[in-house]
Amino acid sequence: MQDAVISHLNHNELMSCVEKCIHKGSSFAQPSIFLFHQNGKAFAYKTFSQKFSLARLLWGAVSLKKEFKVLKKLLPVSGVPKVYYFVSNFGYVMEYLEAERIPRRRFVSSAAQPEREKIIEISSEEKSNLSPEFFDKAMNILIEIHKRGVAHCDIRRNNILVGRGETPIFIDFATAFVRNEGSNFIRQKIFNYLCKVDRITLVKIKASYFPGSITKDEKILISSVPFYLRFGRFLRQKIYRPLKKIFKKRK
Ligand SMILES: Nc1ncnc2c1ncn2[C@@H]1O[C@H](COP(=O)(O)OP(=O)(O)O)[C@@H](O)[C@H]1O
Ligand SMILES: [Mg+2]
Repeated sequence: MQDAVISHLNHNELMSCVEKCIHKGSSFAQPSIFLFHQNGKAFAYKTFSQKFSLARLLWGAVSLKKEFKVLKKLLPVSGVPKVYYFVSNFGYVMEYLEAERIPRRRFVSSAAQPEREKIIEISSEEKSNLSPEFFDKAMNILIEIHKRGVAHCDIRRNNILVGRGETPIFIDFATAFVRNEGSNFIRQKIFNYLCKVDRITLVKIKASYFPGSITKDEKILISSVPFYLRFGRFLRQKIYRPLKKIFKKRK
């Protein structure tokens, strides 16, 4: 941690330096993220400060403290935001990432099977140099994260950013599962299982963008999908998407 070059500010000082809100929490369980500069360097401050104080004290500070501890454990890993310090009861300061979200895929009906949607290309509205190698680099980072005893547990498109030079960055470790030196057998087993789920989910995201680039090993991995992930997919494809279409048509 580069504590020596930045001075620790308290919550009020931080909020008075804020230049803009990068991400506005949309529910009581979601923190906001603010951008500020200090000594010419950009930082991000993740905090529940905008929420009413009971939610912040009961849930917010605890979950952010946990996320801060996890990110501290992952400081040696590149591809994870560097954290600097925790602001008691409020949140934490981390490096500001010059990064984009992974663009959405565009779903287009194929002529042969018009009833089925097929992914044809990445949305052209969102500029991107995304390639299969991006996901391979992401897998290497994920394995490094696992080696340090952290299972991410919330791998999805929005929690992987595209940094400069197409470098993947994993964010949002609020629901991560940590295995320590002294973890017992059961915790170790759960950890291994969650790491596998992380890897399967990442390969499935890669497959959804670049189906032709999936290797034999990746195919084997995603064919061992646990039942609850299959159930989630069923809900998304057979219930959520058709309902969304009906509501869109009505508008
Ligand atoms: N360190 C950061 N620097 C710049 N933007 C960030 C940073 N961390 C998060 N963001 C932005 O904020 C969004 C939400 O961050 P995330 O940690 O996933 O919050 P949540 O827990 O609410 O899902 C991200 O999609 C990203 O656009
Ligand atoms: Mg998130």
